Amino acid sequence: MVRISFVQGDITEQQVDAVVNAANSSLLGGGGVDGAIHRQGGPEILAACRDLRASRYGSGLPTGRAVATTAGRLPARWVIHTVGPVWQSHEDRSDLLASCYRESLRVADELGAHTVAFPAVSTGVYRWPMDDAARIAVRAVREADTAVSEVRFVLFDDAAYEAFVAQ
Ligand code: APR
Repeated sequence: MVRISFVQGDITEQQVDAVVNAANSSLLGGGGVDGAIHRQGGPEILAACRDLRASRYGSGLPTGRAVATTAGRLPARWVIHTVGPVWQSHEDRSDLLASCYRESLRVADELGAHTVAFPAVSTGVYRWPMDDAARIAVRAVREADTAVSEVRFVLFDDAAYEAFVAQ
């Protein structure tokens, strides 16, 4: 049974085995979590992402999938990049969002990571309503069949933190 904890803070500072990045399918960086991870982690991460684009992920990482790279200068050992769905009011993409958590834990298991930090995937630029994203995220982690011992949700502001701890 995975232990779940919630903290308010910056995901780049987490002392865990793997930090999950809210990436886009290009894997070539962006703002928000993506920007912070590349900025703090340094160029090694982008170099590893470019290698992935030149090999297994020629057309980019599909939404809902996850892939690991080095964490560069971050305190973590790995970054697990996942691509969240953009929120659409007329289309239910909940399972794609849940897949980000399931697939990231599957990659963590392949790595042998025991502690994993997740941001609130899709709740920033991708506009997913926070309460609904929190419900989907916590449920997906609770239901996951994983060897990961601790999942830490790292929330950036009060509203996100309150939404997650309420799950
Ligand atoms: N640590 C933890 N959480 C953070 C941090 C941080 N350093 N920076 C931002 N957040 C929070 C945001 O407040 C939001 O709640 O992470 C959540 C996800 O927001 P985004 O980073 O915008 O991610 P997402 O909504 O999934 O959009 C992904 O944005 O940055 C680009 O390249 C990225 O195109 C991709 C898109």
